Amino acid sequence: MEVIIKKDYSEICEEAVNVIHRSWHKKRNLVLGLATGKTPLGVYEGLIRLYSERKMDFSDVSAFSLDEYLGLPEDHPQSFAFYMQHNFFRHINIPRDNIFRLDALPGDIETHCREYEKKIQSAGGIDIQILGIGKNGHIGFNEPSSSLSSRTRVKTLTQETIEANAHFFRDREDIPRYCLTMGIGTIMESRKILLLASGKEKAEAIRQSIEGSITASIPASILQLHPQAKFIIDAEAASQLTQRKYYEWVYDHKDKVDAFLANKKK
Ligand code: GLP
Repeated sequence: MEVIIKKDYSEICEEAVNVIHRSWHKKRNLVLGLATGKTPLGVYEGLIRLYSERKMDFSDVSAFSLDEYLGLPEDHPQSFAFYMQHNFFRHINIPRDNIFRLDALPGDIETHCREYEKKIQSAGGIDIQILGIGKNGHIGFNEPSSSLSSRTRVKTLTQETIEANAHFFRDREDIPRYCLTMGIGTIMESRKILLLASGKEKAEAIRQSIEGSITASIPASILQLHPQAKFIIDAEAASQLTQRKYYEWVYDHKDKVDAFLANKKK
């Protein structure tokens, strides 16, 4: 696990975009896991910019959606399908056949979830999973108490998450209570995980995820066990970390440490 603290929102997005861009240079058929919410928007904007400047091409890239509200029609502005299409896919050249989504209105939910997992495997697994974090520490829609080894399935949203998302819906009646989400076990199989967080309201969840015990009560705390998880957070989201200075020192001296280790090998 690595903790990268940047000044503000635009810097965390830039950092995540750079990680993705570098990975794409090594593997053109990159498999991305993509999250919704406000936080990753700047990352999608950055990737679109690289595409428009012809520095990145998405024709071999695949994308898997992290979660979806159950029951929302695809063209509802709050559906994952609409969000991704509107904020990312329609601006780049990712082939339609490379886009994999959880269906908001699946026939048989269990079969759909099982097949989704198989599709991830057939694509060779997720190379980079982008995550945001809920104020209660949820990742995807894995609310507190989700099994830390869970697979893609239906979840019931907490009242807190429903309230947090309420302002996106004109009519309270329309706010979904159920969703489909990749499980925590599914997310943990990604080769690399980038969790982004910005703002004071995420500071407590970030502190508990990075410095607290690993617990189903804070689903993001499981990332402590992932060797390639990066928490990319801004100063406000980092404001409650007790080891903040250490994380900053490690990040600032990364090149020196790499050079030192390379020298030792000679
Ligand atoms: C929703 C999504 C999560 C997202 C979270 C935080 O619950 N399912 O994937 O991380 O919201 O969203 P935001 O980035 O808007 O704070």
